[in-house]
Amino acid sequence: MTPAGDKKKGLPEELAAIREAYDRWSAQYDEQENATRDLDEQLLPQLAPPLAGRVVVEAGCGTGKNSRWLAPRCARLIGLDFSAGMLRLARRRLPDRHVYYLQADLTAPWPLAAASADVVLFNLVLEHVPVLAPVFEQAARVLRPGGRLYVSEYHPARLAYGRGATIAGEGGVVFGSYLNTEADYLAALAAAGFELERFAGWGEEPGRPPRLLTLHASLPGV
Ligand SMILES: C[S@@+](CC[C@H](N)C(=O)[O-])C[C@H]1O[C@@H](n2cnc3c(N)ncnc32)[C@H](O)[C@@H]1O
Repeated sequence: MTPAGDKKKGLPEELAAIREAYDRWSAQYDEQENATRDLDEQLLPQLAPPLAGRVVVEAGCGTGKNSRWLAPRCARLIGLDFSAGMLRLARRRLPDRHVYYLQADLTAPWPLAAASADVVLFNLVLEHVPVLAPVFEQAARVLRPGGRLYVSEYHPARLAYGRGATIAGEGGVVFGSYLNTEADYLAALAAAGFELERFAGWGEEPGRPPRLLTLHASLPGV
């Protein structure tokens, strides 16, 4: 498995190992303390794009930690995740009729129609994605003109510092992080046709890089 900082192409067996690790971890995921996850959850209400009346795609939704806040505020919420174990918990947590959870690998074409969503969010998932451009291209494809993108991810400087995710569950620990630099994020957004609106670091601690990177971007309107 590829440790943080050692960027590889993301072989299919590596992604399968990450998916299986999340399947195993899902039972404990919500119980374990995690300062990065807490910060991400705290930032969401301050930083989320407008949601009222919108179709929202939560890419890498996991067990629905953020779905709880998003679902009552939007017209339809579609959670995508490749881990059946994580999705099982999300479906149990949010059985609402306007919330749909689909099993999908974000690095492959998404099972959503073109121009069918208003907002796409990525929270703590892109560190598991070896190459960002194809994933942002899918986000751009499913968004309508003027659609909004919100990204809240492990800060690349933190990953480079060796603080990437370890996926811990029965069966051991998997290092499932790929280092995408700030320049990689900006290049992949631009290549997919997004216009960057805001770029920020959060969770400064003495002597350490910021914990999270947030990005706001949008597609040109009609
Ligand atoms: C750290 S969890 C974050 C979950 C949720 N967004 C949150 O903030 O709690 C990462 C999630 O990304 C999912 N994931 C990782 N790589 C993925 C991929 N290529 N396609 C779909 N889901 C992926 C995992 O299954 C896991 O549920």
